[in-house]
Amino acid sequence: MKKTTIQHLIKKKNEGLKITALTAYDYPTAAIVDEAGVDIILVGDSLGVVVQGLDNTLPVTMDEMLYHTRIVARAAGRAMVLGDMPFLSYQPSLSEAVTNAGRFLQVGAKGVKIEGGSNVVHIIKELTKYDIPVMAHIGITPQSIHRYGGYKVQGRDEKTARKLLEEAKIVEEAGAFSLVLEGIPPELGKSITRSVSIPTIGIGAGPGCDGQILVIHDLLGLFDRFTPKFVKRYANIKATSVDAIKKYMAEVENGIFPGTEQSY
Ligand code: KIV
Repeated sequence: MKKTTIQHLIKKKNEGLKITALTAYDYPTAAIVDEAGVDIILVGDSLGVVVQGLDNTLPVTMDEMLYHTRIVARAAGRAMVLGDMPFLSYQPSLSEAVTNAGRFLQVGAKGVKIEGGSNVVHIIKELTKYDIPVMAHIGITPQSIHRYGGYKVQGRDEKTARKLLEEAKIVEEAGAFSLVLEGIPPELGKSITRSVSIPTIGIGAGPGCDGQILVIHDLLGLFDRFTPKFVKRYANIKATSVDAIKKYMAEVENGIFPGTEQSY
């Protein structure tokens, strides 16, 4: 069982092999994702929405992220675990960015993800100086929802598309080892992917990216408060769970559970 490394991801890009990535926030889910053979597990700040029931990711704290990253890292044998730096854990100062990113590595992450392009280039350079691998994230950046007025597809016109392409080259130049492209047209996803040598991981960025990532709760049908267009649901675990719990309730209510097999 070979552990996923940055070199392995770059090799996959160069060989035209797709990279798979998913989020996970707890031990059993991370163990399932790892066993399935996914390359990257991102402990995303999306946990604010799908685990904590918040409206957006802005209130998620470093302590919460570290708690989840530590337990995910414990389950991951092969997958590369990345910690998602929450709002205000890297923007205020370079020293806070280094300290907080380092804390992710100390609890078992192999790198961190930060949102932004040219506006965070100084942070990418600084973290890279400390040998902290950085995954950048451009397009829809959920920590900037108030600036953009919501989760709006980016790069639809020529000017903004050109700007995103530039941003991708800037983060690569700054030392990012990979790049999440979120919520951009598929042609732009493809052209950014062809223009940079680091692997691109798409979410709502079309099939032309080097890899894809989804939030595990969306893929498994565990979260249905809203479903972005880019989500494909591969199972309906929520419905299966409600069904199982109803069966349990009926058996308890009718004196069927526990039976002799479950009794001492
Ligand atoms: O927070 C998150 O889970 C993410 C991914 C969906 C890219 O940023």
